[in-house]
This record gives sequence, structure tokens and C-alpha cells, in this order.
Amino acid sequence: MMSIQDEIKELKEEKNAIILAHNYQPKEIQDIADFLGDSLELCIKASEIDDKDLVVFCGVDFMAETAYILNPDKKIVIPDLEAECPMAHMLPEEELLKSIEEHPDAGVILYVNSIAEAKQHADTLCTSANAVKVTESLPHDKILFGPDNNLATHVQKKIEKEIIPTPKGGHCYVHKLFHIEDVELKREQYPNATIICHPECNIEVQEACDEVLSTGGMLRFIAESDEEEFVIGTEIDMITRLNSEIPGKKLYPLLEGAICETMKLHTLEKVRDALKNESPEVTVPDDVASKSLKAVQHMLDASK
Ligand code: 13P
Ligand code: SF4
Repeated sequence: MMSIQDEIKELKEEKNAIILAHNYQPKEIQDIADFLGDSLELCIKASEIDDKDLVVFCGVDFMAETAYILNPDKKIVIPDLEAECPMAHMLPEEELLKSIEEHPDAGVILYVNSIAEAKQHADTLCTSANAVKVTESLPHDKILFGPDNNLATHVQKKIEKEIIPTPKGGHCYVHKLFHIEDVELKREQYPNATIICHPECNIEVQEACDEVLSTGGMLRFIAESDEEEFVIGTEIDMITRLNSEIPGKKLYPLLEGAICETMKLHTLEKVRDALKNESPEVTVPDDVASKSLKAVQHMLDASK
């Protein structure tokens, strides 16, 4: 009998498909992905797949939507349609429009972790890998920044412009789990380790860590470092990616229980079925997609 991995491989060829996966995917999905990356890398890759007809996106809703915005002529499928990022839904379109009305002179930057209906009103987008650079690229002195308040504070600490976070309290429930006590504990346990966290963590946690990096940034930083031990403050499967790509390092989680539940909804069986049935499809209404494309494109250009 054919293994499920071989079935996926065969279907992928038959359908001229590509599997894109985020760094938080479980090992079995990381192993069958054609491309694995952080949100920015996935966005860039999604802008370079002209030769493919079908995209299977193993990530959360906003990532697949962004792939659709970049490729409205292709079929974008997600193995489990329930894979949503709760943070992205914390800034509904109406709330963003209200903030824009309150700050008519501000530029609007949305974290890519936002819904397409909100993205269409943004001047540009950013990810945790390029947030500072993209913010600098806008001419405005005042910036409305949503939905992640922690990323907004991270950017505010690095630049002169006034950052106005919207909505109040926008956050990632996974990165909220990390506390300063976790950092202190790991410092005691692993005194030689470099402690790295994601900018979605609370600002006190960011300040207590040695580095604050996107998931792709963590991979590059550790690969280039001569140090041997690292504590990783982000979703647990980032360590899976790091271990398979950079052997020989000692990597410890800042918190074992940092699990993004919706990222784990995808399974090999669902990937196979998504390829076979070319569903469930992720689409964005035409007008929303074409308006949002401006912001996506601006981010890609500003990140070069
Ligand atoms: P990265 O872009 O750093 O991979 O982050 C995406 C994300 O959703 C983090 O929670
Ligand atoms: Fe969204 Fe947080 Fe999961 Fe990232 S880790 S996809 S921000 S819920």
C-alpha cells in the first residue's frame, strides 16, 4: 500500500500543486511541505508561483487569504477551514474605519495577521520580520498600527514616529502565555543560553530577552551564531523546524505549552484530501482582493 506521503507527492504532481507551510506546523506537515517559512517568506513565495495551478496552504486563514490576494487566478486551498488566527479577527473592518476617522492624518499599517476586509483600508502591511522597515517607509509621522499591540510597542521603541495601536488590547493568545518569570527561570536553568522571543510577546518579556525576532529571524540568527544554547520564546513547533534545519544546537522552549491550536488542525490526511478535492477553497471577494493587493504589494516592495 502506498504511504500517505507518496499519495500526497503523486497528487501534487498530478494537480501541479505546491504546499506552503508556516514554521508552526507539526513535524509531519513540515516534512511534506515544498516551502516552509515565516509570514513574510510565505508571502514572498506566494508572489512567485506563476507556474503552479493549486496552492495548499498549511497555515492560518490570513496567510491563505494573502496568497489568494496575490494569486486571484489560482485555487488556494487550506486543509482545515477552521484554522483561523484569533488575533487577525480582533480588528474588524468597522473598528478600523472608526480609528481611521479619529486619526485622519495617520498612515495605516496592518500586521499581515489581519482580515482581508481590514487590509483593503491599509496603506501597507507588515510582518514581525519587517515591521520597523515598513513603518519607516511610510511618509507619515503618525501611524495607526493594528491589530497586535505588542508588535506596535516593539516598533514604537525603535522609531521616532508616533504609533497608535488599534484596537486596544489586540494580542496573540499564544505569545501572551509567556511571562517574565519564565525568562528568569530559564536564565537560572540555562545560564549560557541566548534567550530569544517573538515580538508578539508582552513588552516586559521582550525586554528581558536577549533578542526579539520573527520566526524566520530566529532561524537565521541561530544558524549564523557560534553559540550553542538557545531558549526559544515562540510557538513550540518552531523548535521542530530549528532542530531539523540546524543540527548540533541545544534548543529549549521558553514554555512547553505555547501551542497555536488552530495551526495544529492540519493533518496529512487533510492535506491529501485538500489536494484530491481541491477544497476547502480560500477566496476573498474581488473588490476586497484588488484593494488589499496595493497594501500587500507595498509591503513586498518596502521589504526588498
Ligand atoms: P512570523 O511571521 O514570525 O512567522 O509570525 C507569524 C505568527 O503568526 C506568529 O504568531
Ligand atoms: Fe495567530 Fe498567535 Fe497563532 Fe500566530 S501564534 S497564528 S498570531 S494565534
